[in-house]
Amino acid sequence: MAQPPLLSVRNLCVRFDTPRGIVEAVRGIDFDVGRERLGIVGESGSGKSVTGRATLRLLPASATVTADRLALGDLDLLGADAAALRSVRGRRVSMIMQDPKFSLNPVMTVGRQIAEAYRMHHRVGRSEARRRALDMLADVRIRDPEHVYDLYPHEVSGGMGQRVMIAMMLIPEPDLLIADEPTSALDVTVSMQVLAILDDLVTRRGMGLLFISHDLNLVASFCDRVLVMYGGQIMETLPASALHQATHPYTRGLLAALPTIDTAGRDLPVLTRDPAWLATRR
Ligand SMILES: Nc1ncnc2c1ncn2[C@@H]1O[C@H](COP(=O)(O)OP(=O)(O)O)[C@@H](O)[C@H]1O
Ligand SMILES: [Mg+2]
Repeated sequence: MAQPPLLSVRNLCVRFDTPRGIVEAVRGIDFDVGRERLGIVGESGSGKSVTGRATLRLLPASATVTADRLALGDLDLLGADAAALRSVRGRRVSMIMQDPKFSLNPVMTVGRQIAEAYRMHHRVGRSEARRRALDMLADVRIRDPEHVYDLYPHEVSGGMGQRVMIAMMLIPEPDLLIADEPTSALDVTVSMQVLAILDDLVTRRGMGLLFISHDLNLVASFCDRVLVMYGGQIMETLPASALHQATHPYTRGLLAALPTIDTAGRDLPVLTRDPAWLATRR
């Protein structure tokens, strides 16, 4: 029998009640994530981050989340109570955010944060947790783990902070990792290193990765499949290798808006949008 997907989403809708009215951020999307690298692309505001956060139920109280199905393996995330969600976060699904500064505790050394993240889900003593944390720091290619273990978040660089973040999110060995623009705050060299680490961990651990990015070229080369989002809906789903041959006019528009050596210095084309793209609701 085929294994169920790690994450299964059907007719997911997220709306925010704001002082200026209702914002429909996600409008009826369907997708599954298996043990693969699934990318979500789309322009700013298209609903990528809200989709990622909805799957961990990490949205503010002003959000209303509905779905026909929102399941992590066989666990119904919509019906799960707070205790069930706490035990799932980290252990079965983790999330890496764009900026590690907001996710690391400023008054605890980075090593202890990683060790505590491990102890939250495994019954081990402090010294075993420390050993695991040091191994994990080495896994994310931190050269002197013993030294870095005792640093506070403000003492590490942006690139190292992001690697610490990845270590903390991966040490409980989740089945699924959601990475929301994990490298956009980093320079190109460090960003390539972080991607290589993620890729290695996905391959070695057989993890699923939901990789959110506005960078089409990056997703085309890094992921296996891609969802293209616009206005809270999925315009199309395609193999990452076929992204550059996409036929949907929105995806073509996103691709045409990418600066290339040829277009450098010239005006970039303006994205045109057809209201009919959003008209076909179920
Ligand atoms: N907390 C919130 N309150 C109100 N609206 C929100 C909130 N978070 C996101 N939105 C809105 O939801 C839409 C999708 O946002 P988001 O998922 O962050 O876009 P993306 O990650 O694709 O740039 C946007 O219109 C955004 O303004
Ligand atoms: Mg976002």
